[in-house]
Amino acid sequence: MFRSLKILAILLALGLALPVAAQDKPAKRFGFGTPATTEQIAGWNIDVRGPDGAGLPPGKGSVAAGEELFMAQCAACHGEFAEGAGRYPELIGGRGTLKSDDPRKTIDSYWPHGPSLYDYIYRAMPFGAPQSLTHDEVYSIVAWLLNQGDLWPADKDLDAASLKALKLPNRDGFITGGDPRPDVKPDTCMTNCRTAPPKITSDLAARLGVTPTQQKAAD
Ligand code: HEC
Repeated sequence: MFRSLKILAILLALGLALPVAAQDKPAKRFGFGTPATTEQIAGWNIDVRGPDGAGLPPGKGSVAAGEELFMAQCAACHGEFAEGAGRYPELIGGRGTLKSDDPRKTIDSYWPHGPSLYDYIYRAMPFGAPQSLTHDEVYSIVAWLLNQGDLWPADKDLDAASLKALKLPNRDGFITGGDPRPDVKPDTCMTNCRTAPPKITSDLAARLGVTPTQQKAAD
């Protein structure tokens, strides 16, 4: 009897311990999904960094080819001169208006970096069919847009190196290199900084009766 009780206790203890042990096992796999292939990852990995153009793909495009593509795929919304159609955004124009009462934010008035143009158009345009353009087509459209803003000659091809080297007019209109406000001084106390008890310098609050003084509280 004694012995079987002991066995029962051991069994009970095991029963309590088992679910805990089960939690330590790796999560059950359900067999869903497959590891992403290099090709699939490359399809997502399309970001191009504005300031230095990191991620710009090989390829090149011409202003002439860009004009044809823009008229066919972009002008319906952005206008034949990239001036915007209806309520769709204008892409070129309004340089020098940022400080005015009617600031117009476009590629040549506002955007700081040429490579961002590549990133945005390749990723997001044309509006109804994003990522349908080839790299060469995007370079061509970027070349045409820059040419519309007098920022790129009509007879020169645009590629990664030349887009990186290009300086847009508002390049220095953004604050970079950190917060321009003065830093907290290194010796500024941030915790337990009180050296003496606080002193009441005016009794106005007490006279108005909104903050009872020590004496009043004692009365
Ligand atoms: C169906 C209309 C439509 C078409 C076609 C279209 N776009 Fe756009 N585009 C838009 C809209 C809408 C926005 C604003 C999107 C937003 O702010 O989210 C935009 C934004 C942009 C911008 C960013 C403007 C800015 O300064 O913020 C660029 C650059 C651009 N489009 C280029 C193109 C190019 C190049 C094509 C052709 C390959 C194209 N778009 C075709 C509707 C269109």
